[in-house]
Amino acid sequence: MKDIMLVVQTAVLATAFSSVLMMQHACAQTLSSSFYEYSCPTVAAIVEGVVQQAVQAETRMAASLLRLHFHDCFVHGCDGSVLLDDTFTVTGEKTALPNNNSLRGFEVVDNIKTAVESVCNATVSCADILALAANASVTLVGGPSWTVLLGRRDATSPASVSEVNSALPNPNSDMTTIINQFAAVGLTVQDTVVLSGAHTIGQARCVSFNSRLYNFSGTGSPDPSINPSYLQTLQNTCPQGANANALSPLDVSTGTVFDNAYYTNLQVNEGLLLSDQELTSDSNTAPLAATYAGSQSAFFSAFGQSIVKMGNISPLTGAQGEIRQNCRLVNAA
Ligand code: HEM
Ligand SMILES: *[C@@H]1O[C@H](CO)[C@@H](O)[C@H](O)[C@H]1NC(C)=O
Ligand SMILES: *[C@@H]1O[C@H](CO)[C@@H](O)[C@H](O)[C@H]1NC(C)=O
Ligand SMILES: *[C@@H]1O[C@H](CO)[C@@H](O)[C@H](O)[C@H]1NC(C)=O
Ligand SMILES: *[C@@H]1O[C@H](CO)[C@@H](O)[C@H](O)[C@H]1NC(C)=O
Repeated sequence: MKDIMLVVQTAVLATAFSSVLMMQHACAQTLSSSFYEYSCPTVAAIVEGVVQQAVQAETRMAASLLRLHFHDCFVHGCDGSVLLDDTFTVTGEKTALPNNNSLRGFEVVDNIKTAVESVCNATVSCADILALAANASVTLVGGPSWTVLLGRRDATSPASVSEVNSALPNPNSDMTTIINQFAAVGLTVQDTVVLSGAHTIGQARCVSFNSRLYNFSGTGSPDPSINPSYLQTLQNTCPQGANANALSPLDVSTGTVFDNAYYTNLQVNEGLLLSDQELTSDSNTAPLAATYAGSQSAFFSAFGQSIVKMGNISPLTGAQGEIRQNCRLVNAA
């Protein structure tokens, strides 16, 4: 009799225990703006301080840090995996085609991490640092701020090179392909149009768009959708078969300010990447692109909403992953 009671009790306890675990799991899924309220209340100010110094030294750094958050989140979720260096045994994400010789800002992230660790040791993830740095960067160059949700943890391994290549959009893809890549991480057509507006700051290398300049899709001629005087400017920067790494602003009119000029440029066929200009030729995206060309405030409020959604892509939470001590390396086993 006693034995039976024990068995029953154990079963009840086990059920209760596993539902507590499930609840914890469910709760742990949700990021929160107050995650570091007690454990590191000054984290946002620390990040802002280092980002401000970096952007003062080089305005483009605001763009580079924003892009790191995007490339982190799209590949296996916002888990800091983009920051991992290659090791002898594991090839990281940094040298995959969309990132190699293109992603930048890693030293600034190191500086932020050092500053954060000196105040709140082993507490703030590298993935959260990227989310905070994106908000700090955008606001420093004139853009909107948003409520940064926190509580992500860091991956203990990078995604594979093939995952990076399939998750990150290629600038020469058609808009349907790009929309499908956004949909694959839970983002809508509107999010696609809005987040593309990040190209209101930063620069691109000739290799990223020179397929438009001379022999577009094997036609022997430039992409007819490029404004002729803008084409001339781009051909001067990127002569055929040369200067592959020369840079052009993604927003030709106000390339260092976060505003809605990216969309007004598109209206006059001055989008730099094919994926930018296609926003006005695809019937799914053209009306939205026109809306943001007409209203900076509509763009700013939509950008805040869409980037929070992007920051929610498959985070590691709770006891998953780790808080990396050095953003470039997984913690020693
Ligand atoms: C819609 C699909 C997208 C495509 C095809 C795309 C592609 C690119 C390419 C090819 C570059 C230039 C890279 C180089 O030449 O080195 C670039 C730069 C950049 N991208 Fe995107 N991107 C997309 C969406 C986004 C999103 C969603 C964000 C952020 C929310 C973003 C932020 C940036 C920024 C800020 C830069 C400039 C970085 C710098 O100057 O260091 N992009 N992107
Ligand atoms: C976002 O940026 C704004 C402007 O710099 C700042 O006031 C706010 O504290 C930032 N939010 C977070 C959570 O970092
Ligand atoms: C990355 O770029 C470096 C320097 O240009 C090059 O040597 C290397 O082969 C590239 N790596 C990959 C995987 O493409
Ligand atoms: C920071 O935390 C790590 C991991 O818990 C620990 O190994 C290290 O000694 C701590 N450093 C300081 C200065 O407290
Ligand atoms: C353009 O590209 C196509 C296909 O790659 C090629 O057959 C053609 O010779 C090229 N034309 C010129 C003018 O380079």
